[in-house]
Amino acid sequence: MSQYKHLLSPGKLGPIDLRNRIILSPMGDNFSDPDGYCTEQMQAYYEARAAGGAGLIIMGVVSIAFPHGTAEPFQCAISDDKYIPGLAKLAERVHKHGAKVAMQIQHAGKVAARDLSEGRDLWVPSIPRMTKNNIMSSLTQEELGKFISSQRRDSNPVIRVMDKNDIAQMVEWFAAAAERAEKAGFDGVEIHAAHNYIIAGFLSPYHNQRDDEYGGSFENRVRFLREVMQAVRARVSPTFGVWVRIDAYEMHTEGGITLEEAKKVAQIADEDGMHAIAVSAYATITRGSAFTDAPLVQKPAGYLDWAAQIKSVVNTSVIALGRIEPDVGDKAIAAGQCDFIAMGRKLLADPELPNKLIAGKPETIRPCIYCYVCVSQIFINERIKCAANPFTGQEFQKVILPATQNKHVAIIGGGPAGMEAARIARQRGHKVTLIERSNRLGGTLFFAALAYPENGVLLDNLTAQVKALDIDIRYNTAATAELLSSLHADQVFVATGAKRDAPSIPGAEMKHVWSGDELRRLMTGDRADEIAKNKLSLTQRTMMKAGSLSGATNSRDALQGLSKLWMPLGKKVVIVGGGLVGLELAEFLIERGRHVTVLEPSPSLGAELSIVRRWRVLDNLSDHNVAMLTHCEVTSIDKNQVNYQDKDGQQHSVAADSVVLAVGASPDHSLATSLNQQGFNAISIGDCDTLGYIEGALRSGTNAALSL
Ligand SMILES: Cc1cc2nc3c(=O)[nH]c(=O)nc-3n(C[C@H](O)[C@H](O)[C@H](O)COP(=O)(O)O)c2cc1C
Ligand code: SF4
Repeated sequence: MSQYKHLLSPGKLGPIDLRNRIILSPMGDNFSDPDGYCTEQMQAYYEARAAGGAGLIIMGVVSIAFPHGTAEPFQCAISDDKYIPGLAKLAERVHKHGAKVAMQIQHAGKVAARDLSEGRDLWVPSIPRMTKNNIMSSLTQEELGKFISSQRRDSNPVIRVMDKNDIAQMVEWFAAAAERAEKAGFDGVEIHAAHNYIIAGFLSPYHNQRDDEYGGSFENRVRFLREVMQAVRARVSPTFGVWVRIDAYEMHTEGGITLEEAKKVAQIADEDGMHAIAVSAYATITRGSAFTDAPLVQKPAGYLDWAAQIKSVVNTSVIALGRIEPDVGDKAIAAGQCDFIAMGRKLLADPELPNKLIAGKPETIRPCIYCYVCVSQIFINERIKCAANPFTGQEFQKVILPATQNKHVAIIGGGPAGMEAARIARQRGHKVTLIERSNRLGGTLFFAALAYPENGVLLDNLTAQVKALDIDIRYNTAATAELLSSLHADQVFVATGAKRDAPSIPGAEMKHVWSGDELRRLMTGDRADEIAKNKLSLTQRTMMKAGSLSGATNSRDALQGLSKLWMPLGKKVVIVGGGLVGLELAEFLIERGRHVTVLEPSPSLGAELSIVRRWRVLDNLSDHNVAMLTHCEVTSIDKNQVNYQDKDGQQHSVAADSVVLAVGASPDHSLATSLNQQGFNAISIGDCDTLGYIEGALRSGTNAALSL
């Protein structure tokens, strides 16, 4: 508790008393029904976060003029009294757990995707300025069909530059929405004045091109927000909280919102009685990775300094947000940089985070791995989910309950699927034996954690939780029929991962050609000697030992460092396969000074990565001059080059000192089949069953354990 004393201490957000300073950041979830009603799925999702201990729950984007001005296909509405009963139920379910609840009221303005797709006018402050970007080019065919803005009915939406009546109407919508929120038993509203939506459009000197009293000078651009804030305050009681979310910056936007202006907006909001200022940011999507600068942020505590600067010029409370770790948030509150910490992704990954801090068990918190699966769902009009937490959004139907009949389950393979199955099965009361061939848990997640360190935190969490439970872990153990017979297990889960067949490319047998699996095993010490003997020269083996690569393989940090000094790959590396594994490996190698070319046979790169993470990886690789070629069929590998054919049948070659084959992974049911033939009750889970990487592995492990 003491480590997080400030974060966990009660706070007053205007008239609302909060039990601690942790706020669920508003996140559009797409859990409503298509008519904007609050569903059981939505209520259970928010209730779980209240039960997890957060002080305040803020519902993401609630539509004030539904379906007009709505961005998402399953967005919740507050534009009519008929929505009150469902929302009142939600409020009651949150309150039951001692948390307070607010909703973020929003009109999406020019990004109202439903107006686009349903043929309504788009309401805007002035004619939108278009930005060219490359984001569509990296989508798969399937994603292109579902992509949020591809739903427009015709290519020329009708733009309606708001006149004064429209402005008055919009102000009224905001005020009426707040009044209804209060009627529904909510404790407050957050006025969404950020992220390129309608109010931000007025505030932005770049986007607002009006020449009347709502455009031009700062006083004019802030006028609309002032009218909204004042109208909302006038319509609700003094005990109802009202605050505003603003952008500290409009990044990648020449002439956009800057911190200096954001400070002035905050001061005005303070004057107009806002109980808090939530400090976010927006970035014009000049390219896909800009989305990971803002409004989602990859950089830890990426906006905290801005929140602190805004705090220094206002008297009202400040809500800081943006990848803020609990200890960082605690210190920021202690230092007076902000008053509250809003957490988004962390509470998707683990709604119990506040309770676990209170219990003094931060190591048990399931971490967010910054894979952007959650938000990428929004881009393809799907309900949100979390790769690290299969229960997110499924709270209404997926619950860990004690087993009705206790069984003994033997799990073969200690990767993410095996560990998650073991953890949940044990929690349900089953006896669990976990059989692992190597001397450590993690499976391919260990290597994935080298390529993207964010994955490492998940690995630590899974390992710690499995070790903390009464699970019989057998390291360095082969899952033989004898062993399984001696265990008398009722159920066997086979979680030994995918099989990776080397493609039959002439030349693939040469020593400078590595399968992804060989490289992984060498680097992570998984039967590395076998690989070293076959693939490395004596000098290389000596260097490997001298660098202690093999001896240090239990420490990811050591491996990170040592692999910068030595790896068995030459300067020019060709990676065959531009999927998740190939691209993350490319990132790992460019950090180690390699010149990398990626050859992908299909039309798409990184198809298994979430859209937003893919944008980030692809931009990073192109910034490092990695050539990434699609439609390339590798025909042969020579000593110094890789030969391939493009989609027009033209032959090309690219120089290579080393080649890595990151293709050919497929599910592997062979062990489960053979065990079943021998009379064991075995099923495949994780990549063994269906390729699904971290998200699929955790979901599969969870489902298996729940099915026992
Ligand atoms: C799935 C998802 C949906 C989001 N939807 C909203 C939204 O509706 N309104 C909003 O202001 N911010 C939205 N955000 C941004 C978050 O509120 C938060 O500011 C951002 O994720 C940074 O905080 P974090 O690092 O704690 O996630 C969303 C973020 C995610 C991940
Ligand atoms: S989906 Fe990925 S980025 Fe989103 S909350 Fe879960 S782990 Fe974090």
